[in-house]
Amino acid sequence: MRLFTTTAGLRRYLEGIRRVRNSEGRAIASSSGSVGLVPTMGSLHSGHLSLIRRARQENDQVVVSIFVNPLQFGPQEDLQQYPQALENDSQRCQQLGVDVIFAPSASELYDASHVPEDSSQTFVTRVIPPPEMVQVLCGKTRIGHFEGVATIVTKLLSLVQPDRAYFGQKDAQQLAILKRLTADLNLPVHLVGCPTVRDSGGLALSSRNQYLNLDQQRQARAIFVSLKQAKTLFQAGQVDRASLLKAVKSHLETVPHLRIEYVELVHPDTMTPLEQIEDAGLLAIAAHMGSTRLIDNVVLRNRQAIIAIDGPAGAGKSTVARQVAQQLDLLYLDTGAMYRAVTWKVLHSDVALNDEPAIAELLSQCNIELTAGTEVGSPCQVWVNGEEVSQAIRSAEVTANVSTIAAQPSVREALVKQQRSYGKKGGVVMDGRDIGTHVFPHAELKIFLTASVQERAKRRQQDLKNQGQQSMNLEDLEQTIHERDVKDSTRAIAPLQKADDAIEIHTDSLTIEDVTAKIIDLYHEISARSPN
Ligand code: PAF
Repeated sequence: MRLFTTTAGLRRYLEGIRRVRNSEGRAIASSSGSVGLVPTMGSLHSGHLSLIRRARQENDQVVVSIFVNPLQFGPQEDLQQYPQALENDSQRCQQLGVDVIFAPSASELYDASHVPEDSSQTFVTRVIPPPEMVQVLCGKTRIGHFEGVATIVTKLLSLVQPDRAYFGQKDAQQLAILKRLTADLNLPVHLVGCPTVRDSGGLALSSRNQYLNLDQQRQARAIFVSLKQAKTLFQAGQVDRASLLKAVKSHLETVPHLRIEYVELVHPDTMTPLEQIEDAGLLAIAAHMGSTRLIDNVVLRNRQAIIAIDGPAGAGKSTVARQVAQQLDLLYLDTGAMYRAVTWKVLHSDVALNDEPAIAELLSQCNIELTAGTEVGSPCQVWVNGEEVSQAIRSAEVTANVSTIAAQPSVREALVKQQRSYGKKGGVVMDGRDIGTHVFPHAELKIFLTASVQERAKRRQQDLKNQGQQSMNLEDLEQTIHERDVKDSTRAIAPLQKADDAIEIHTDSLTIEDVTAKIIDLYHEISARSPN
Protein backbone atom coordinates (compact mmCIF):
# COMPACT_ATOMS: atom_id res chain seq x y z
CA MET A 1 0.00 0.00 0.00
CA ARG A 2 1.27 3.51 -0.82
CA LEU A 3 0.60 6.64 1.20
CA PHE A 4 0.71 9.99 -0.58
CA THR A 5 0.42 13.32 1.14
CA THR A 6 1.09 15.39 -1.97
CA THR A 7 -0.96 15.78 -5.12
CA ALA A 8 2.25 15.48 -7.16
CA GLY A 9 3.04 12.02 -5.73
CA LEU A 10 -0.52 10.82 -6.21
CA ARG A 11 -0.65 12.16 -9.75
CA ARG A 12 2.61 10.48 -10.75
CA TYR A 13 1.48 7.15 -9.34
CA LEU A 14 -1.90 7.29 -11.11
CA GLU A 15 -0.28 8.35 -14.37
CA GLY A 16 1.82 5.19 -14.18
CA ILE A 17 -1.33 3.08 -13.71
CA ARG A 18 -3.08 4.77 -16.64
CA ARG A 19 -0.09 4.29 -18.90
CA VAL A 20 -0.21 0.53 -18.28
CA ARG A 21 -3.98 0.60 -18.73
CA ASN A 22 -3.79 2.43 -22.05
CA SER A 23 -1.02 0.29 -23.44
CA GLU A 24 -2.82 -2.93 -22.52
CA GLY A 25 -6.16 -1.44 -23.47
CA ARG A 26 -9.31 -3.50 -23.31
CA ALA A 27 -7.44 -6.63 -24.25
CA ILE A 28 -6.71 -7.51 -20.65
CA ALA A 29 -9.51 -9.42 -19.06
CA SER A 30 -9.19 -7.80 -15.64
CA SER A 31 -11.33 -4.75 -14.86
CA SER A 32 -9.06 -2.86 -17.29
CA GLY A 33 -7.08 -1.03 -14.62
CA SER A 34 -10.20 0.53 -13.17
CA VAL A 35 -9.79 2.90 -10.23
CA GLY A 36 -12.24 3.15 -7.33
CA LEU A 37 -12.14 6.13 -4.96
CA VAL A 38 -13.48 6.13 -1.41
CA PRO A 39 -13.45 9.72 -0.13
CA THR A 40 -13.40 9.92 3.67
CA MET A 41 -12.52 12.25 6.48
CA GLY A 42 -10.72 9.41 8.25
CA SER A 43 -11.42 7.91 11.67
CA LEU A 44 -12.65 4.91 9.72
CA HIS A 45 -15.48 2.77 11.10
CA SER A 46 -17.29 -0.27 9.72
CA GLY A 47 -19.41 1.97 7.48
CA HIS A 48 -16.27 3.21 5.68
CA LEU A 49 -14.88 -0.31 5.62
CA SER A 50 -17.98 -1.53 3.77
CA LEU A 51 -17.36 1.17 1.12
CA ILE A 52 -13.73 0.09 0.84
CA ARG A 53 -14.68 -3.59 0.56
CA ARG A 54 -17.14 -2.77 -2.19
CA ALA A 55 -14.53 -0.68 -4.02
CA ARG A 56 -12.04 -3.54 -3.64
CA GLN A 57 -14.50 -5.97 -5.24
CA GLU A 58 -15.20 -3.72 -8.19
CA ASN A 59 -11.86 -2.14 -9.13
CA ASP A 60 -8.25 -2.96 -9.85
CA GLN A 61 -6.95 -0.01 -7.86
CA VAL A 62 -8.54 1.34 -4.71
CA VAL A 63 -7.71 4.84 -3.54
CA VAL A 64 -8.94 5.98 -0.12
CA SER A 65 -8.69 9.70 0.52
CA ILE A 66 -8.46 10.90 4.10
CA PHE A 67 -8.96 14.60 4.42
CA VAL A 68 -10.83 16.60 7.04
CA ASN A 69 -12.11 19.24 4.68
CA PRO A 70 -12.23 22.66 6.38
CA LEU A 71 -14.61 24.04 3.73
CA GLN A 72 -17.48 21.83 4.84
CA PHE A 73 -17.39 22.87 8.51
CA GLY A 74 -19.27 25.92 9.73
CA PRO A 75 -17.57 28.35 12.16
CA GLN A 76 -19.45 26.83 15.15
CA GLU A 77 -18.80 23.21 14.15
CA ASP A 78 -16.37 20.55 15.35
CA LEU A 79 -13.50 21.01 12.83
CA GLN A 80 -10.88 21.37 15.58
CA GLN A 81 -12.11 18.33 17.57
CA TYR A 82 -12.91 16.14 14.55
CA PRO A 83 -11.39 12.71 15.38
CA GLN A 84 -8.20 11.86 13.49
CA ALA A 85 -6.49 8.47 13.51
CA LEU A 86 -4.23 8.15 10.49
CA GLU A 87 -2.16 5.28 11.85
CA ASN A 88 -5.17 3.17 12.74
CA ASP A 89 -6.87 4.08 9.46
CA SER A 90 -3.78 3.04 7.49
CA GLN A 91 -3.73 -0.35 9.21
CA ARG A 92 -7.37 -0.97 8.38
CA CYS A 93 -6.85 0.08 4.76
CA GLN A 94 -3.83 -2.20 4.51
CA GLN A 95 -5.87 -5.14 5.84
CA LEU A 96 -8.57 -4.53 3.24
CA GLY A 97 -6.10 -4.44 0.36
CA VAL A 98 -6.28 -0.72 -0.40
CA ASP A 99 -3.63 0.33 -2.95
CA VAL A 100 -3.30 4.01 -2.13
CA ILE A 101 -4.12 6.31 0.76
CA PHE A 102 -4.20 9.96 -0.20
CA ALA A 103 -3.92 12.03 2.98
CA PRO A 104 -2.99 15.58 2.04
CA SER A 105 -2.70 18.49 4.44
CA ALA A 106 -5.11 21.42 4.01
CA SER A 107 -2.29 23.55 2.62
CA GLU A 108 -1.55 20.88 0.00
CA LEU A 109 -5.10 21.07 -1.34
CA TYR A 110 -5.84 24.74 -0.78
CA ASP A 111 -3.33 27.56 -1.06
CA ALA A 112 -2.96 28.50 2.61
CA SER A 113 -3.13 32.21 1.90
CA HIS A 114 -6.60 31.61 0.45
CA VAL A 115 -7.95 29.72 3.46
CA PRO A 116 -7.61 31.72 6.64
CA GLU A 117 -8.35 30.13 10.04
CA ASP A 118 -12.06 30.78 9.70
CA SER A 119 -12.75 28.60 6.70
CA SER A 120 -16.09 30.26 5.97
CA GLN A 121 -14.07 33.25 4.72
CA THR A 122 -12.09 31.81 1.82
CA PHE A 123 -11.05 32.97 -1.57
CA VAL A 124 -11.05 29.55 -3.21
CA THR A 125 -13.24 28.70 -6.18
CA ARG A 126 -16.29 26.82 -5.00
CA VAL A 127 -18.68 24.41 -6.61
CA ILE A 128 -22.26 25.49 -5.92
CA PRO A 129 -24.92 22.75 -5.94
CA PRO A 130 -28.49 23.63 -7.02
CA PRO A 131 -29.93 25.84 -4.23
CA GLU A 132 -33.18 23.83 -4.00
CA MET A 133 -31.19 20.70 -3.10
CA VAL A 134 -29.30 22.57 -0.41
CA GLN A 135 -32.06 24.58 1.23
CA VAL A 136 -33.59 21.58 2.98
CA LEU A 137 -32.54 19.03 5.62
CA CYS A 138 -28.92 19.55 6.76
CA GLY A 139 -28.33 22.44 4.37
CA LYS A 140 -30.83 24.55 6.31
CA THR A 141 -28.58 24.82 9.34
CA ARG A 142 -25.19 23.81 7.92
CA ILE A 143 -24.76 26.89 5.76
CA GLY A 144 -22.04 26.37 3.15
CA HIS A 145 -21.59 22.69 4.08
CA PHE A 146 -22.66 21.19 0.76
CA GLU A 147 -20.69 23.78 -1.18
CA GLY A 148 -17.68 22.62 0.80
CA VAL A 149 -18.46 18.95 0.09
CA ALA A 150 -19.15 19.58 -3.61
CA THR A 151 -15.90 21.55 -3.92
CA ILE A 152 -13.66 18.98 -2.27
CA VAL A 153 -15.30 16.02 -4.03
CA THR A 154 -14.90 17.75 -7.41
CA LYS A 155 -11.21 18.33 -6.56
CA LEU A 156 -10.75 14.69 -5.56
CA LEU A 157 -12.54 13.40 -8.66
CA SER A 158 -10.40 15.65 -10.79
CA LEU A 159 -7.15 14.52 -9.10
CA VAL A 160 -7.87 10.79 -9.00
CA GLN A 161 -10.12 10.49 -12.08
CA PRO A 162 -11.69 7.30 -10.75
CA ASP A 163 -14.09 5.08 -12.65
CA ARG A 164 -16.24 4.76 -9.53
CA ALA A 165 -16.54 6.68 -6.27
CA TYR A 166 -18.24 5.29 -3.18
CA PHE A 167 -20.49 7.10 -0.68
CA GLY A 168 -22.77 5.99 2.13
CA GLN A 169 -26.54 6.24 1.95
CA LYS A 170 -26.50 7.58 5.52
CA ASP A 171 -25.51 10.93 4.03
CA ALA A 172 -28.43 10.76 1.61
CA GLN A 173 -28.51 14.49 0.85
CA GLN A 174 -24.77 14.51 0.14
CA LEU A 175 -25.14 11.52 -2.19
CA ALA A 176 -28.09 13.05 -4.08
CA ILE A 177 -26.21 16.36 -4.50
CA LEU A 178 -23.05 14.64 -5.68
CA LYS A 179 -25.01 12.51 -8.15
CA ARG A 180 -26.57 15.69 -9.55
CA LEU A 181 -23.15 17.37 -9.63
CA THR A 182 -21.52 14.60 -11.67
CA ALA A 183 -24.49 14.48 -14.04
CA ASP A 184 -24.67 18.27 -14.50
CA LEU A 185 -20.92 18.60 -15.04
CA ASN A 186 -20.70 15.45 -17.20
CA LEU A 187 -17.98 14.03 -14.97
CA PRO A 188 -17.06 10.57 -16.25
CA VAL A 189 -17.47 8.71 -12.96
CA HIS A 190 -20.09 6.38 -11.58
CA LEU A 191 -21.13 7.24 -8.02
CA VAL A 192 -22.00 4.17 -6.01
CA GLY A 193 -24.36 4.60 -3.04
CA CYS A 194 -23.82 1.95 -0.35
CA PRO A 195 -26.23 0.86 2.41
CA THR A 196 -25.99 2.40 5.89
CA VAL A 197 -24.08 0.23 8.33
CA ARG A 198 -25.56 0.03 11.85
CA ASP A 199 -24.47 -1.24 15.24
CA SER A 200 -26.32 -4.19 16.77
CA GLY A 201 -28.95 -1.84 18.19
CA GLY A 202 -29.56 -0.11 14.86
CA LEU A 203 -27.60 3.12 15.48
CA ALA A 204 -26.15 4.27 12.15
CA LEU A 205 -22.36 4.26 12.36
CA SER A 206 -20.62 7.63 12.25
CA SER A 207 -17.19 8.89 13.26
CA ARG A 208 -19.04 11.28 15.60
CA ASN A 209 -20.58 8.36 17.54
CA GLN A 210 -17.36 8.22 19.56
CA TYR A 211 -18.46 11.45 21.24
CA LEU A 212 -21.41 9.51 22.76
CA ASN A 213 -21.26 7.67 26.08
CA LEU A 214 -22.95 4.27 26.39
CA ASP A 215 -26.20 5.67 27.75
CA GLN A 216 -26.35 8.27 24.97
CA GLN A 217 -25.73 5.56 22.39
CA ARG A 218 -28.58 3.52 23.84
CA GLN A 219 -30.93 6.51 23.73
CA ALA A 220 -29.86 7.46 20.22
CA ARG A 221 -31.15 4.12 18.93
CA ALA A 222 -34.63 5.62 19.12
CA ILE A 223 -33.81 7.26 15.78
CA PHE A 224 -33.61 3.88 14.07
CA VAL A 225 -36.70 2.60 15.90
CA SER A 226 -38.71 5.62 14.75
CA LEU A 227 -37.63 5.09 11.12
CA LYS A 228 -38.66 1.47 11.36
CA GLN A 229 -42.05 2.49 12.69
CA ALA A 230 -42.48 4.91 9.79
CA LYS A 231 -41.61 2.15 7.38
CA THR A 232 -44.20 -0.15 8.90
CA LEU A 233 -46.83 2.59 8.61
CA PHE A 234 -45.82 3.22 5.02
CA GLN A 235 -46.08 -0.46 4.18
CA ALA A 236 -49.55 -0.44 5.69
CA GLY A 237 -50.55 2.30 3.23
CA GLN A 238 -49.71 5.61 4.99
CA VAL A 239 -48.12 7.75 2.29
CA ASP A 240 -48.83 11.27 3.49
CA ARG A 241 -46.27 13.55 5.07
CA ALA A 242 -48.30 14.58 8.11
CA SER A 243 -48.91 11.09 9.46
CA LEU A 244 -45.40 9.78 8.77
CA LEU A 245 -43.68 12.78 10.36
CA LYS A 246 -46.04 12.75 13.32
CA ALA A 247 -45.27 9.10 14.04
CA VAL A 248 -41.51 9.70 13.97
CA LYS A 249 -41.65 12.86 16.05
CA SER A 250 -43.89 11.43 18.71
CA HIS A 251 -41.51 8.52 19.19
CA LEU A 252 -38.41 10.73 19.30
CA GLU A 253 -40.05 13.09 21.77
CA THR A 254 -40.22 10.27 24.33
CA VAL A 255 -36.40 10.20 24.53
CA PRO A 256 -35.35 12.59 27.32
CA HIS A 257 -32.00 13.82 25.98
CA LEU A 258 -32.64 13.83 22.27
CA ARG A 259 -33.30 17.20 20.63
CA ILE A 260 -34.87 17.02 17.18
CA GLU A 261 -33.35 19.34 14.57
CA TYR A 262 -35.57 18.17 11.75
CA VAL A 263 -37.74 15.32 10.58
CA GLU A 264 -38.44 15.72 6.87
CA LEU A 265 -39.92 13.95 3.89
CA VAL A 266 -38.34 14.76 0.52
CA HIS A 267 -37.86 13.12 -2.85
CA PRO A 268 -34.65 11.02 -2.61
CA ASP A 269 -33.20 12.28 -5.93
CA THR A 270 -34.31 15.93 -6.04
CA MET A 271 -34.67 16.76 -2.32
CA THR A 272 -38.03 18.40 -3.10
CA PRO A 273 -40.28 18.33 0.00
CA LEU A 274 -43.18 15.90 -0.46
CA GLU A 275 -46.75 16.09 0.79
CA GLN A 276 -47.28 12.49 -0.33
CA ILE A 277 -45.05 9.69 -1.49
CA GLU A 278 -45.80 8.91 -5.13
CA ASP A 279 -42.88 6.71 -6.21
CA ALA A 280 -40.30 7.20 -3.45
CA GLY A 281 -39.69 9.35 -0.39
CA LEU A 282 -36.67 9.98 1.79
CA LEU A 283 -37.64 10.26 5.43
CA ALA A 284 -34.67 11.95 7.08
CA ILE A 285 -33.86 12.87 10.67
CA ALA A 286 -31.24 15.07 12.31
CA ALA A 287 -31.15 15.15 16.10
CA HIS A 288 -28.75 16.20 18.82
CA MET A 289 -27.74 13.95 21.67
CA GLY A 290 -25.87 16.23 24.04
CA SER A 291 -23.49 18.15 21.77
CA THR A 292 -23.37 15.39 19.14
CA ARG A 293 -25.34 15.80 15.95
CA LEU A 294 -26.72 12.57 14.49
CA ILE A 295 -28.44 11.93 11.16
CA ASP A 296 -30.23 8.94 9.70
CA ASN A 297 -32.83 8.20 7.04
CA VAL A 298 -34.91 5.61 5.29
CA VAL A 299 -35.98 5.50 1.66
CA LEU A 300 -39.63 4.50 1.35
CA ARG A 301 -40.39 3.11 -2.09
CA ASN A 302 -43.89 2.83 -3.32
CA ARG A 303 -43.39 -0.13 -5.50
CA GLN A 304 -43.49 -3.87 -5.49
CA ALA A 305 -40.35 -5.70 -4.47
CA ILE A 306 -37.30 -6.39 -6.61
CA ILE A 307 -35.43 -9.64 -6.17
CA ALA A 308 -31.87 -9.71 -7.55
CA ILE A 309 -30.24 -13.12 -7.99
CA ASP A 310 -26.53 -13.17 -8.82
CA GLY A 311 -24.06 -16.00 -8.93
CA PRO A 312 -21.64 -18.01 -11.03
CA ALA A 313 -22.63 -19.92 -14.15
CA GLY A 314 -24.35 -23.20 -13.51
CA ALA A 315 -25.66 -22.37 -10.02
CA GLY A 316 -29.25 -22.62 -11.26
CA LYS A 317 -30.02 -18.89 -11.23
CA SER A 318 -32.37 -18.59 -14.17
CA THR A 319 -34.44 -21.69 -13.32
CA VAL A 320 -34.80 -20.51 -9.73
CA ALA A 321 -35.50 -16.91 -10.76
CA ARG A 322 -38.30 -18.02 -13.09
CA GLN A 323 -39.89 -20.17 -10.39
CA VAL A 324 -39.63 -17.47 -7.73
CA ALA A 325 -41.21 -14.94 -10.11
CA GLN A 326 -44.00 -17.32 -10.97
CA GLN A 327 -44.81 -18.20 -7.36
CA LEU A 328 -44.73 -14.60 -6.15
CA ASP A 329 -46.56 -13.34 -9.24
CA LEU A 330 -43.66 -11.06 -10.24
CA LEU A 331 -42.19 -10.49 -13.70
CA TYR A 332 -39.09 -12.49 -14.59
CA LEU A 333 -36.89 -9.91 -16.30
CA ASP A 334 -35.26 -12.12 -18.90
CA THR A 335 -32.12 -10.25 -19.94
CA GLY A 336 -31.22 -12.98 -22.42
CA ALA A 337 -34.46 -12.16 -24.23
CA MET A 338 -33.54 -8.47 -24.21
CA TYR A 339 -30.16 -9.10 -25.86
CA ARG A 340 -31.91 -11.30 -28.40
CA ALA A 341 -34.40 -8.51 -29.10
CA VAL A 342 -31.54 -6.08 -29.82
CA THR A 343 -29.88 -8.67 -32.07
CA TRP A 344 -33.17 -9.18 -33.93
CA LYS A 345 -33.50 -5.42 -34.37
CA VAL A 346 -29.94 -5.08 -35.71
CA LEU A 347 -30.48 -7.99 -38.11
CA HIS A 348 -33.62 -6.23 -39.39
CA SER A 349 -31.78 -2.98 -40.04
CA ASP A 350 -28.98 -2.02 -42.39
CA VAL A 351 -26.53 -1.67 -39.49
CA ALA A 352 -23.56 -4.07 -39.37
CA LEU A 353 -23.32 -6.35 -36.33
CA ASN A 354 -19.95 -4.93 -35.29
CA ASP A 355 -20.75 -1.25 -35.85
CA GLU A 356 -21.08 -0.42 -32.14
CA PRO A 357 -21.71 3.35 -32.50
CA ALA A 358 -24.48 2.76 -35.07
CA ILE A 359 -26.00 0.04 -32.88
CA ALA A 360 -25.97 2.43 -29.92
CA GLU A 361 -27.78 4.98 -32.07
CA LEU A 362 -30.32 2.37 -33.20
CA LEU A 363 -30.89 1.30 -29.60
CA SER A 364 -31.58 4.85 -28.48
CA GLN A 365 -34.70 4.75 -30.68
CA CYS A 366 -35.68 1.25 -29.69
CA ASN A 367 -38.05 0.39 -26.87
CA ILE A 368 -37.79 -3.19 -25.69
CA GLU A 369 -40.60 -4.32 -23.45
CA LEU A 370 -41.16 -7.53 -21.55
CA THR A 371 -44.62 -8.49 -20.35
CA ALA A 372 -45.79 -11.51 -18.36
CA GLY A 373 -46.62 -14.59 -20.48
CA THR A 374 -50.26 -15.21 -21.30
CA GLU A 375 -50.43 -18.47 -19.34
CA VAL A 376 -49.20 -19.27 -15.85
CA GLY A 377 -45.54 -20.29 -16.08
CA SER A 378 -45.18 -19.44 -19.77
CA PRO A 379 -42.17 -17.35 -20.82
CA CYS A 380 -42.51 -13.58 -20.95
CA GLN A 381 -43.59 -11.85 -24.15
CA VAL A 382 -41.08 -9.61 -25.86
CA TRP A 383 -41.93 -6.44 -27.77
CA VAL A 384 -39.73 -4.15 -29.84
CA ASN A 385 -41.27 -0.73 -30.52
CA GLY A 386 -44.72 -2.26 -30.02
CA GLU A 387 -44.15 -5.29 -32.30
CA GLU A 388 -44.37 -8.71 -30.67
CA VAL A 389 -41.14 -10.64 -31.35
CA SER A 390 -41.30 -13.42 -28.73
CA GLN A 391 -40.94 -16.15 -31.38
CA ALA A 392 -38.77 -14.25 -33.84
CA ILE A 393 -35.98 -13.70 -31.28
CA ARG A 394 -35.54 -17.48 -30.92
CA SER A 395 -34.46 -17.94 -34.56
CA ALA A 396 -31.15 -19.65 -35.38
CA GLU A 397 -29.86 -16.43 -36.92
CA VAL A 398 -30.45 -14.50 -33.69
CA THR A 399 -28.90 -17.33 -31.64
CA ALA A 400 -25.79 -17.26 -33.83
CA ASN A 401 -25.25 -13.52 -33.40
CA VAL A 402 -26.46 -12.65 -29.93
CA SER A 403 -23.04 -13.01 -28.26
CA THR A 404 -21.46 -10.47 -30.67
CA ILE A 405 -24.12 -7.95 -29.68
CA ALA A 406 -24.04 -8.74 -25.97
CA ALA A 407 -20.26 -8.11 -25.87
CA GLN A 408 -20.70 -4.43 -26.78
CA PRO A 409 -20.46 -2.12 -23.75
CA SER A 410 -22.87 0.46 -25.18
CA VAL A 411 -25.54 -2.20 -25.74
CA ARG A 412 -25.18 -3.31 -22.17
CA GLU A 413 -25.35 0.26 -20.90
CA ALA A 414 -28.54 0.96 -22.87
CA LEU A 415 -30.18 -2.26 -21.69
CA VAL A 416 -29.27 -1.61 -18.06
CA LYS A 417 -31.07 1.72 -18.45
CA GLN A 418 -34.16 -0.05 -19.78
CA GLN A 419 -33.95 -2.71 -17.06
CA ARG A 420 -33.73 0.00 -14.40
CA SER A 421 -36.92 1.57 -15.71
CA TYR A 422 -38.64 -1.64 -14.54
CA GLY A 423 -37.14 -0.93 -11.14
CA LYS A 424 -39.39 2.13 -10.81
CA LYS A 425 -42.54 0.01 -10.62
CA GLY A 426 -40.74 -3.00 -9.11
CA GLY A 427 -42.37 -6.39 -9.14
CA VAL A 428 -39.45 -8.05 -10.90
CA VAL A 429 -37.03 -10.89 -10.40
CA MET A 430 -33.79 -10.68 -12.31
CA ASP A 431 -30.74 -12.89 -12.44
CA GLY A 432 -27.21 -12.16 -13.62
CA ARG A 433 -23.80 -11.34 -12.27
CA ASP A 434 -24.05 -7.75 -11.06
CA ILE A 435 -27.77 -7.21 -10.58
CA GLY A 436 -27.60 -6.56 -6.82
CA THR A 437 -24.54 -4.30 -7.11
CA HIS A 438 -25.11 -2.46 -10.36
CA VAL A 439 -28.53 -2.83 -11.96
CA PHE A 440 -30.76 -2.82 -8.87
CA PRO A 441 -28.63 -1.79 -5.88
CA HIS A 442 -31.90 -0.91 -4.07
CA ALA A 443 -33.38 -4.40 -4.53
CA GLU A 444 -35.29 -5.49 -1.45
CA LEU A 445 -33.83 -8.97 -1.62
CA LYS A 446 -30.42 -9.86 -2.99
CA ILE A 447 -29.43 -13.47 -3.33
CA PHE A 448 -26.02 -14.82 -4.25
CA LEU A 449 -26.62 -18.33 -5.52
CA THR A 450 -23.61 -20.54 -5.70
CA ALA A 451 -22.50 -24.18 -5.75
CA SER A 452 -19.14 -25.93 -5.69
CA VAL A 453 -17.33 -26.43 -8.97
CA GLN A 454 -17.70 -30.23 -8.52
CA GLU A 455 -21.46 -29.99 -8.06
CA ARG A 456 -21.88 -27.68 -11.04
CA ALA A 457 -19.78 -30.05 -13.16
CA LYS A 458 -22.04 -32.96 -12.15
CA ARG A 459 -25.15 -30.94 -13.04
CA ARG A 460 -23.69 -29.96 -16.39
CA GLN A 461 -22.84 -33.60 -17.14
CA GLN A 462 -26.43 -34.59 -16.34
CA ASP A 463 -27.81 -31.77 -18.54
CA LEU A 464 -25.69 -32.92 -21.48
CA LYS A 465 -26.94 -36.47 -20.96
CA ASN A 466 -30.57 -35.30 -20.79
CA GLN A 467 -30.10 -33.39 -24.03
CA GLY A 468 -28.70 -36.53 -25.68
CA GLN A 469 -25.37 -34.79 -26.24
CA GLN A 470 -21.95 -36.36 -26.03
CA SER A 471 -20.84 -36.75 -22.44
CA MET A 472 -17.69 -35.05 -21.12
CA ASN A 473 -15.60 -36.36 -18.27
CA LEU A 474 -16.06 -34.67 -14.90
CA GLU A 475 -12.50 -33.43 -14.60
CA ASP A 476 -12.67 -31.59 -17.93
CA LEU A 477 -16.02 -30.07 -16.97
CA GLU A 478 -14.63 -28.94 -13.60
CA GLN A 479 -11.69 -27.30 -15.33
CA THR A 480 -13.98 -25.50 -17.82
CA ILE A 481 -16.27 -24.27 -15.02
CA HIS A 482 -13.33 -23.06 -12.95
CA GLU A 483 -11.93 -21.12 -15.92
CA ARG A 484 -15.35 -19.62 -16.59
CA ASP A 485 -15.60 -18.48 -12.94
CA VAL A 486 -12.26 -16.71 -13.14
CA LYS A 487 -13.21 -15.06 -16.42
CA ASP A 488 -16.64 -13.99 -15.11
CA SER A 489 -15.21 -12.43 -11.96
CA THR A 490 -12.46 -10.51 -13.71
CA ARG A 491 -14.01 -9.43 -17.01
CA ALA A 492 -14.30 -5.72 -17.70
CA ILE A 493 -18.03 -5.68 -18.44
CA ALA A 494 -20.43 -6.72 -15.68
CA PRO A 495 -18.04 -8.87 -13.65
CA LEU A 496 -19.54 -11.34 -11.21
CA GLN A 497 -20.04 -9.57 -7.88
CA LYS A 498 -21.63 -10.44 -4.60
CA ALA A 499 -23.33 -7.42 -3.04
CA ASP A 500 -22.34 -6.75 0.58
CA ASP A 501 -25.97 -7.14 1.60
CA ALA A 502 -26.66 -10.25 -0.51
CA ILE A 503 -27.65 -13.49 1.18
CA GLU A 504 -25.52 -16.37 -0.01
CA ILE A 505 -27.21 -19.70 -0.69
CA HIS A 506 -25.07 -22.77 -1.37
CA THR A 507 -27.12 -25.09 -3.49
CA ASP A 508 -24.90 -28.21 -3.40
CA SER A 509 -27.33 -30.30 -1.37
CA LEU A 510 -30.50 -28.47 -2.36
CA THR A 511 -33.07 -29.08 -5.09
CA ILE A 512 -34.46 -26.29 -7.27
CA GLU A 513 -37.65 -26.50 -5.21
CA ASP A 514 -35.69 -26.17 -1.92
CA VAL A 515 -33.88 -23.08 -3.18
CA THR A 516 -37.07 -21.51 -4.52
CA ALA A 517 -38.87 -22.10 -1.22
CA LYS A 518 -35.93 -20.64 0.72
CA ILE A 519 -35.92 -17.46 -1.38
CA ILE A 520 -39.67 -17.06 -1.00
CA ASP A 521 -39.33 -17.43 2.79
CA LEU A 522 -36.53 -14.85 2.84
CA TYR A 523 -38.65 -12.52 0.75
CA HIS A 524 -41.50 -12.68 3.26
CA GLU A 525 -39.08 -12.32 6.18
CA ILE A 526 -37.17 -9.37 4.77
CA SER A 527 -40.29 -7.37 3.98
CA ALA A 528 -40.67 -6.77 7.71
CA ARG A 529 -37.00 -6.04 8.51
CA SER A 530 -34.63 -3.00 8.87
CA PRO A 531 -35.69 0.44 7.64
CA ASN A 532 -33.46 0.30 4.59
O1 PAF B 1 -18.91 11.99 3.80
C1 PAF B 1 -17.79 12.45 4.10
O2 PAF B 1 -17.03 11.87 4.90
C2 PAF B 1 -17.33 13.77 3.50
O3 PAF B 1 -18.38 14.64 3.34
C3 PAF B 1 -16.58 13.59 2.16
C4 PAF B 1 -17.46 12.98 1.10
C5 PAF B 1 -15.35 12.72 2.39
C6 PAF B 1 -16.10 14.94 1.65
O4 PAF B 1 -15.21 15.55 2.54
